[in-house]
Amino acid sequence: MDRRTFLSWVGLGSLATSLPVALVACNSETPSASSPGSNSAGAPRDDGFVQVGTVAALETGAIVLETSSIGAVAVVRNNGELAAVNPTCTHKGCTVAWQPSGEYVCPCHQAKFSATGAVVGEGPAKVPLKVLQAKIEGDAVLVKANA
Ligand code: FES
Repeated sequence: MDRRTFLSWVGLGSLATSLPVALVACNSETPSASSPGSNSAGAPRDDGFVQVGTVAALETGAIVLETSSIGAVAVVRNNGELAAVNPTCTHKGCTVAWQPSGEYVCPCHQAKFSATGAVVGEGPAKVPLKVLQAKIEGDAVLVKANA
């Protein structure tokens, strides 16, 4: 093997070993803070409330956290009233989604719940969503699990 062939093989080898790293680096994405389920909440304050989002985020629809230090959380302002629930469907545990029509709908078997978690309509769920306490302080939307 002459010097030129050897250097070609070495160059190809280093390119082949670094390509996967370069592809991963180019393809990594930072989760969007506005997409449902991608937000995270911090630790509860001394009074038990956890900040789950901002008033600005609430104005664009529901704030939905699939996990937080107090479990799953969904907060909406419906007809001017702030309401928070655990969005885990009481039928078989899917995560319900807030609809522009003003109700939560389960994607699994179409159970429907009001903004305050009450069962609506004829779906398979018979038990309301778990209600959480919610309030606004400044620009922060705060939620607390009921004892
Ligand atoms: S899990 Fe929600 S309706 Fe069945």
